[in-house]
Amino acid sequence: MRWLFDFLNSSIGKKVTVGLAGLLLCGFLLTHLAGNLILFAGQAKFNAYAEFLEKNPLLPALEIGLAALFLIHIIVTLYARWQNWQARPVSYEMTVSKGGRTWGSRTMTYTAFLLLGFIILHVATLKYGLATSFTEDEVFQRVMTFLKSPWMAGFYVLTMAGLGLHLSHGFESAFQTLGVNHPKYTPVIKAAGILFAVAVAGTFAVIPLWAYWQGGLK
Ligand code: HEM
Repeated sequence: MRWLFDFLNSSIGKKVTVGLAGLLLCGFLLTHLAGNLILFAGQAKFNAYAEFLEKNPLLPALEIGLAALFLIHIIVTLYARWQNWQARPVSYEMTVSKGGRTWGSRTMTYTAFLLLGFIILHVATLKYGLATSFTEDEVFQRVMTFLKSPWMAGFYVLTMAGLGLHLSHGFESAFQTLGVNHPKYTPVIKAAGILFAVAVAGTFAVIPLWAYWQGGLK
């Protein structure tokens, strides 16, 4: 057991933990996106889907697992940053090669905070019904009335742009940490990361634009 603790506490162990949690969160994003696309099928179908999820006996365990993944991803990143900063309080940034930096890597901290703020607001409103008069059987109505506001729709689109940037760097970085770092495969993983980020964030962004365009419930 001691070796596991030592590994998790090492620099590479923390990177592997953050990377694995990030990749599992990408799996959640794909299933969440697929479920959200049912919105386009209308109120009855989407609410039936939401009810099916709510009634699933595995849901509480899956939600605890999901919350644990988010917490591990965030806390281990913060802890590693804090340790880095303690070891090298001066000009850590200067040691990073400028050549390898992308928009995704440069903005990682900002997009992380944007996503954290988004998730808190998103879960409080759409899942727990804060600031809405609709019940938990009326999730479609919650989404549509919430996103008819240009501010909210705009905030969602902005966050999806942040999500795209975060994923574009996170995806590549996770695979590199897990050992896929080879002149032959690195460009493929880089391209796959960008494709994944654009496809996932772009498709998510269509939903608030569409909901805003619909103008709420008819
Ligand atoms: C346009 C984009 C999105 C829409 C329309 C949407 C819609 C929803 C809805 C309706 C729920 C509540 C489900 C229910 O109560 O049955 C929900 C939950 C949730 N969403 Fe989203 N979502 C979007 C994007 C995202 C993104 C990008 C993330 C993460 C970065 C995210 C993370 C979550 C989480 C963590 C939950 C709570 C899941 C649970 O505990 O059951 N969502 N979303």
